Amino acid sequence: MLWWTDDLKTGIEHIDEEHKSIFDKVGMILDLSNTTDLDTIEDVWTFLSDYVIQHFGHEETAMFKNHYKKFAHHRDQHSYFIKKLYCLYNKTAEHGLNDHVIDELKLLVLEWLINHINQEDRALAQFLQQNDCH
Ligand SMILES: [Fe+2]
Repeated sequence: MLWWTDDLKTGIEHIDEEHKSIFDKVGMILDLSNTTDLDTIEDVWTFLSDYVIQHFGHEETAMFKNHYKKFAHHRDQHSYFIKKLYCLYNKTAEHGLNDHVIDELKLLVLEWLINHINQEDRALAQFLQQNDCH
């Protein structure tokens, strides 16, 4: 699976499974780099965005219900990622899935998402495990 390694595990199985699925869906977009069929490209982008939004919602519900102190900060990070995905989705709709969009998507996942999982999601998972509330 693209870029996924066990180092990225947080220790909470359902969060890890959802993270793996996000990498999988990003891989599906990168696989479309030679496709010019905009309907197919749009379907996959929508699929990725829906999934990411749902996954962030699961984390945010767990934070909220358990009075997690860094809730607002963590949620701001999620909003940043959604905003970036939305910009790339719009660029794709305007210019197609060109090299520039592909490079930006790769950077977003390799730099932002991996960093977010390693820091914020791992801290959240530790908190949930310590408080026996996952
Ligand atoms: Fe997160």
